[in-house]
Amino acid sequence: MKVTLQGNLEGSQYAAKEKAIAVIIDTLRASTTMPTAMSKGITELFVAKEVDDTRLSAKENNTLLMGERGCIMLDGFNFGNSPTELMKQTGFENTKVSFTSSTGSRRTVDAIGSDILIIGSPINAKAVAKLLVELTEEDEKKSVVLIPCFTEGSIINHELTEDQLGGLVIAMELKNLGVELPADLLEEVLHFEERLSKQTLKELYLETKHGQKLIDLQFEADVEFCSQISKINFVPISRNDIVTLGNGSKVVKFKQV
Ligand code: MLT
Repeated sequence: MKVTLQGNLEGSQYAAKEKAIAVIIDTLRASTTMPTAMSKGITELFVAKEVDDTRLSAKENNTLLMGERGCIMLDGFNFGNSPTELMKQTGFENTKVSFTSSTGSRRTVDAIGSDILIIGSPINAKAVAKLLVELTEEDEKKSVVLIPCFTEGSIINHELTEDQLGGLVIAMELKNLGVELPADLLEEVLHFEERLSKQTLKELYLETKHGQKLIDLQFEADVEFCSQISKINFVPISRNDIVTLGNGSKVVKFKQV
């Protein structure tokens, strides 16, 4: 596979243009919440950009509602975007959910056109890496784009975002499986591994703006939960399964591997 790490809107657009396998990484918290939801028995996730589209998707696809704005659960929704709150709840096995979040769901919809879309985070990093190896077995030149939803700079220069850290965890798991990474990404992964030998992932998250925001909003348990590496084997996947709503908006339908 040909691995590229490209963040922000450009990453989603690049994956779509390349017809790549797009890995959407919104570490705190959307791309941790989605695999967690699947581990709790939710079978399908319809990811929408806008709140109104999420409500319409729930009506048309007969789903529950999950998501946030400003990190807070939306009015009338069944769940917010807190993986630890989800872990405490029961009774939604075999249900479907329409989901929206401030950034993660945007980058997901922006990546429509990619061959396959995958939701990845540290929490399911090894499962994501294994799946990428499987999916590219027959085409060693297949393009895989790791898309940290919000990216600022390089870990080497200590310019961290939580999503870049998530991207580096997935790249590290790819490296551990023997996947060849481009030289600049490999250099970042090696720096990251060195940092990880001195600091926990949670401590690294706390150096980020979004990590601090979640602490201020009393979501420290989520920051802790999201810092677990390769604890969940569920990987939401969409083989470019796009649903067009009655108003013309598109949502991406994910199932579990
Ligand atoms: C996002 O998609 O922007 C985040 O997941 C927001 C959050 O932490 O709720």
